[in-house]
Amino acid sequence: MRIEVLSIFLMFQVVVSLKHNDLIIAVGDTLELLSDGKTFQTLTLDSYNASKLSALAYDPVAKKLFFSDTRHRHGHIFSVDLNDEFYHPVVDIAEKKDNETVGSLTYDPVDKTLLWMDGFNRSIRRVKIEHETFHAEEKGDVEILHSFDDAKKPSGLICDPCTRMLYWTNVHESHPTIERSFINGSHPKVIIANDMFRPMTLDLDVPEQKLYWAQSLRNGSFNIERSFVNGTGREEIYRDVGQIIISLAVGGDYVYWGDYTQKKLWSLRKDGSSSSPLTLGTFRNPPTSIVLRHQPLDCSLLEQSQTGKLIAHQSATITIACLTITSLLIIGVVAIFMLRIWTFRSGRKLLVSDKDEDTFPFQDFDNGRDSYSRKMTQ
Ligand SMILES: *[C@@H]1O[C@H](CO)[C@@H](O)[C@H](O)[C@H]1NC(C)=O
Ligand SMILES: *[C@@H]1O[C@H](CO)[C@@H](O)[C@H](O)[C@H]1NC(C)=O
Ligand SMILES: *[C@@H]1O[C@H](CO)[C@@H](O)[C@H](O)[C@H]1NC(C)=O
Ligand SMILES: *[C@@H]1O[C@H](CO)[C@@H](O)[C@H](O)[C@H]1NC(C)=O
Ligand SMILES: *[C@@H]1O[C@H](CO)[C@@H](O)[C@H](O)[C@H]1NC(C)=O
Ligand SMILES: *[C@@H]1O[C@H](CO)[C@@H](O)[C@H](O)[C@H]1NC(C)=O
Repeated sequence: MRIEVLSIFLMFQVVVSLKHNDLIIAVGDTLELLSDGKTFQTLTLDSYNASKLSALAYDPVAKKLFFSDTRHRHGHIFSVDLNDEFYHPVVDIAEKKDNETVGSLTYDPVDKTLLWMDGFNRSIRRVKIEHETFHAEEKGDVEILHSFDDAKKPSGLICDPCTRMLYWTNVHESHPTIERSFINGSHPKVIIANDMFRPMTLDLDVPEQKLYWAQSLRNGSFNIERSFVNGTGREEIYRDVGQIIISLAVGGDYVYWGDYTQKKLWSLRKDGSSSSPLTLGTFRNPPTSIVLRHQPLDCSLLEQSQTGKLIAHQSATITIACLTITSLLIIGVVAIFMLRIWTFRSGRKLLVSDKDEDTFPFQDFDNGRDSYSRKMTQ
């Protein structure tokens, strides 16, 4: 019994410590804030009429959201200050030139640089946000970091402020890939080229140094995969049919994605330990982009966690060993106890059975576990 109580307690702890990240989601012409995986709140933009919001990026230091509006006539990247709960002034950061489109956005708080994927000219561009109300002029401010030829069709983009790397997906029909370079553009490299179909969106788990991406497979199914940042250690964490995933974000405990077909926002435990995702919201338009509204990253913790993982692993092993020894001891004590009762009973030739009493607590435990697992699948 004591072991069972202990294991319930441990399971309970695991469930309690799972937490949803606060998210910002672009849906049609609105920006939705989601707290605790439950409460939606629409962000009101002051003196700005949104048309079709797409890519998002978040600056955790200045608490500023960057977004692109694909149908806006003149501008194409804007920022909105989220410091105040009610007043959200919008700043026009970059003008639209020709038919430029912003496929995805990412922000580097170290260099105060905004980077984006331009789908029209197949390039990765960047602009340094010099000050609060910065507006990029026609020439000079915007630099081209990478430009791609017709053999590439770049889509998702994400930077790592800690390791100074930049990752992107290429959804070219015949040679789709996942690639990376330093954030300054040097050393571009293809890191994944096998079994790729249409990896439209990717995100990076900075603390755990893992890439997550989603793609539609050729036969109508889709999957979500992850790998180390060098492209090795690839594993599938979810596969199903009936969705086209167009946005994805990975948090502390969950991976979140937006699906074009059902216009839903989904979440799934990122360690792959649950088999079915939960719907967090259903919208009138597909969720085109998702970002975490997170605290600034502490890059020094990242180095510690990479070495810390080993220590955590060792201490987990020690804990398991201790638990096993304790369990064996308890089983031993119980066995001796039962043996004593048995010898005592057979000695006195007791014939009355107390079986009901014996099984009752176990039935109770099973019921408890049933309602527990029901809660998990809800
Ligand atoms: C936004 O749209 C409304 C109604 O279409 C219009 O009255 C208002 O002037 C517009 N505001 C801006 C800033 O364009
Ligand atoms: C931009 O798109 C419009 C409509 O699709 C097209 O007529 C125009 O030629 C395009 N401009 C450039 C520079 O490609
Ligand atoms: C797009 O690329 C072409 C050729 O590389 C270049 O001439 C043109 O100026 C670019 N357009 C923009 C808006 O940068
Ligand atoms: C780009 O960044 C990498 C790593 O931070 C550095 O080693 C390299 O010298 C940089 N290259 C240029 C051209 O600045
Ligand atoms: C789709 O193809 C994958 C391999 O690419 C396979 O594992 C999966 O079972 C297929 N699904 C269906 C529904 O045929
Ligand atoms: C890729 O990264 C993993 C995890 O950091 C590491 O174990 C592995 O050796 C790396 N592989 C290569 C080829 O660098």
